[in-house]
Amino acid sequence: MDNAGLGSREFNLPYFDLLLETQKDSGLDPDERLDFVHWGYWDDPSSFQPGLADYKKGQELLNQHIIDMADISDSMAVADIGCGFGGTIDELNHSFQNVELTGVNIDPRQLAVARERISPEAGNTISWLEADATDIPLPDNSFDRILAVECIFHFPSRQRFLNEVNRLLKPGGRLVLSDFCGYRQLKGKMAVPYPKMAGRRGPLARIIEGWFERSYGELGPSPGSEPPYGEMIANLALEIGEITDITRNTLPTYKHIYHFIDRYHVRTGKKLPDLVKATRFLDWTARLGIIRYVLLQFIQKDKD
Ligand SMILES: C[S@@+](CC[C@H](N)C(=O)[O-])C[C@H]1O[C@@H](n2cnc3c(N)ncnc32)[C@H](O)[C@@H]1O
Repeated sequence: MDNAGLGSREFNLPYFDLLLETQKDSGLDPDERLDFVHWGYWDDPSSFQPGLADYKKGQELLNQHIIDMADISDSMAVADIGCGFGGTIDELNHSFQNVELTGVNIDPRQLAVARERISPEAGNTISWLEADATDIPLPDNSFDRILAVECIFHFPSRQRFLNEVNRLLKPGGRLVLSDFCGYRQLKGKMAVPYPKMAGRRGPLARIIEGWFERSYGELGPSPGSEPPYGEMIANLALEIGEITDITRNTLPTYKHIYHFIDRYHVRTGKKLPDLVKATRFLDWTARLGIIRYVLLQFIQKDKD
């Protein structure tokens, strides 16, 4: 995963290096083009049919749950932070009228793919902005809704992202995001982000972090250093609306990732050992109920 030639970029996303390489592969079936880069959702996980078609349906359904939780309607200004290849923006573009859509991403390569693929429907506008989620160069009260689908664990600080959301959302606005959270805390509705090994940094934790850093990239600012969401928003005009644990519904995702890794090996002859190990770690901790996949909805109160 060679980052040469990318100048001063300050992010580490090896899986996107891989996906961008895969998406450019001329031997790739057009159906293998990815619109979303996130886990899938299945009402009945046992119904999952291995293969890209069913996986894409699962991704669409997860995306739909997030859009529904955000309660978006026509004529709103909506930002999707950490927008990947723009799949969520495109869905909004086709579902709503007179909307002002903004996709924000730290990776200009992904934004270039989104720009090329997606054009605004009549009456809608789409802007693509290269920026860090914790420092977004836009005016206060810019948005009615903000989404952050499966990306907050990459941001340099969840707290600074929430501060930005607090600044950017209009009163009455909503933020919906998905994150991996620790089970115990979630049970008490504390929803503690679980970026690494919950504060422990023994040799095993460092080995596991290494698998992640070399495959999914840097996860979270420092192990277990971030307080529960409830505490992070305590001094902001945000309140938690809904927290939904959908871990069970996302489990087929892991089968799909193993399948992707196998296909990649067949096509290129390259193995992806760190991606296999990091994915197995997430798969097992999710099955054991230790790390949960959670949708969180926040509501913006009046700002003083
Ligand atoms: C798992 S992908 C999700 C992509 C997209 N939301 C989707 O669901 O298809 C994580 C995304 O977060 C973006 N990202 C990572 N760190 C970021 C940061 N500091 N600021 C903005 N975006 C970031 C990545 O470039 C990537 O697009």
